[in-house]
Amino acid sequence: MQNDRPDLQTEQFIDELSGGFRAAQVLLTANRLGVFDLLGESEMNCELIAGALETDARATRILCDSLVGLSLLERTALGYRNTRAALKHLLTSSPESKTAMLRHGARLYERWGHLYESLKSGTPVPNELLNQQLVAGKRDFAKAMADSARSSAGVTAEKLDLSQVLTLLDVGGGPGSFAIEFCSRNPQLSAVIMDDAETLGVATQNIARAGMKGRITTRSGDVFNDDLGSGYDFIFVSNLIHIYSSDENRRLVARCASALAPGGRLGLKDFFLDNDHRGPQWSLLFAVNMLVSTDNGGCYTLEEAECWFESARLRYEERIDLTEFSRLLLARSCKCHSLVCSAAGEDSRYSSHENLKIEP
Ligand SMILES: C[S@@+](CC[C@H](N)C(=O)[O-])C[C@H]1O[C@@H](n2cnc3c(N)ncnc32)[C@H](O)[C@@H]1O
Repeated sequence: MQNDRPDLQTEQFIDELSGGFRAAQVLLTANRLGVFDLLGESEMNCELIAGALETDARATRILCDSLVGLSLLERTALGYRNTRAALKHLLTSSPESKTAMLRHGARLYERWGHLYESLKSGTPVPNELLNQQLVAGKRDFAKAMADSARSSAGVTAEKLDLSQVLTLLDVGGGPGSFAIEFCSRNPQLSAVIMDDAETLGVATQNIARAGMKGRITTRSGDVFNDDLGSGYDFIFVSNLIHIYSSDENRRLVARCASALAPGGRLGLKDFFLDNDHRGPQWSLLFAVNMLVSTDNGGCYTLEEAECWFESARLRYEERIDLTEFSRLLLARSCKCHSLVCSAAGEDSRYSSHENLKIEP
């Protein structure tokens, strides 16, 4: 937990924690109903809003007032309008929209409502317990991931030097946000996105929209069972390992390692925990999210990831903190490419593309 909160001992701290669901559910419900999209740039009174959304007028007034309390709507002479924050992030058409992610949030909220049962059974919350109107497919999930990657892809591309990389595989690349951002900032780079066919449908649209058809291709498959290709300078794995168990991730890392070019690098981006399991707070809570959503997923420590690297004969090189809780670990393939080795002489080993000296 966060240890720097001044009021940790107070009743208010407990009340704030226990009441957090209220604001979350008001936001998720307003998004699900389409309140923000309906208002757009205009002002409307409660009766008009309720009429358009086919909701109860009294209930709609209570919801809109609570949105005013949360600074997402403003009161006007006519009724209500979106605040600047809502216009920026809560309209489906906004370039910085979070609406798909919020629809995903509404589904997650359902799962979290059954946390007690997960604790008793040790299993994720079954889909049958969820509101069937909220159950969604892979395309919806991919769109939610695109919302969430909108800023993190930029931060990652800024902090990760790919200037010497020619070929990159993005495993579980979802809507393609990271591959697109990497390629747009690194003109020499071409990328392959691996994911299931349905998710790749969303990626393909995004690739075309970004004008990257010539540089980014897709590869439908499962990282555990299908061919990854080979000879990549860089393999990027973002927000995938939290779906799987530690043993599965050891296998995943080994499969990636064998698809790397000599001297190539693997980047694992996830919500890694501190080795003592005391933080970051966001990641500790995200592990609960994976408890209610997956069979064996969770968040892992940096030490655990280092073990996966070691057993795949990768050399751990660097940790890049992308945000307070999103961390990227980089490891390098130590395998030697015979042609490269013989060309470079017995004592020095050079990777094919990055021209890097590798320790034997
Ligand atoms: C949480 S999303 C992350 C998407 C993207 N990498 C990002 O960081 O925004 C996980 C992605 O991995 C894909 N995925 C899950 N298991 C996979 C597997 N075994 N093989 C390939 N892709 C997988 C999912 O379909 C999904 O698109």
